[in-house]
Amino acid sequence: RKILVLNGPNLNLLGQREPGVYGAATLADVETLCRDTAAKIGFEIDFRQSNHEGVLIDALQEAGRGVKAGEVLGVVFNPGAYTHTSVALHDAIKGAEVPVIETHISNVHARESFRHHSYISPAAAGIVVGFGVDGYAIAIEGLARKFGRPA
Ligand code: DQA
Repeated sequence: RKILVLNGPNLNLLGQREPGVYGAATLADVETLCRDTAAKIGFEIDFRQSNHEGVLIDALQEAGRGVKAGEVLGVVFNPGAYTHTSVALHDAIKGAEVPVIETHISNVHARESFRHHSYISPAAAGIVVGFGVDGYAIAIEGLARKFGRPA
């Protein structure tokens, strides 16, 4: 089965973008980390990034169909700044009935107050915050532990 790792706006700039906050690893490094982590526990990774809210919504809906078909376990989702603005992404997660682990590289609660509220968290199955890019590996393992056991 597959795990979708979905990245929102500006995460394509990882490594160059505010390295003091987000670190030196690039999105390609994160993809390698995700594939290695998933392979160890028997899952494949579908790794995507988009700067566009609608593309993220389409990906969540597609993942929801994959969950129903038994092909997808769930989604590790870093929604970037849409975390703090997007009712549409909240609704997409609810509507698609897809298990989502909301993941943030930085500890959003230790930053500006506009980052303290998440529209995603009430729709998420779990949340990983503040572990740097290792959070993606933690989220993959958490998703597999929570939902990956055979029925
Ligand atoms: C982020 C935190 C968000 O507040 C920010 O807009 C991002 C990245 C993180 O991974 O720490 O783009 O989601």
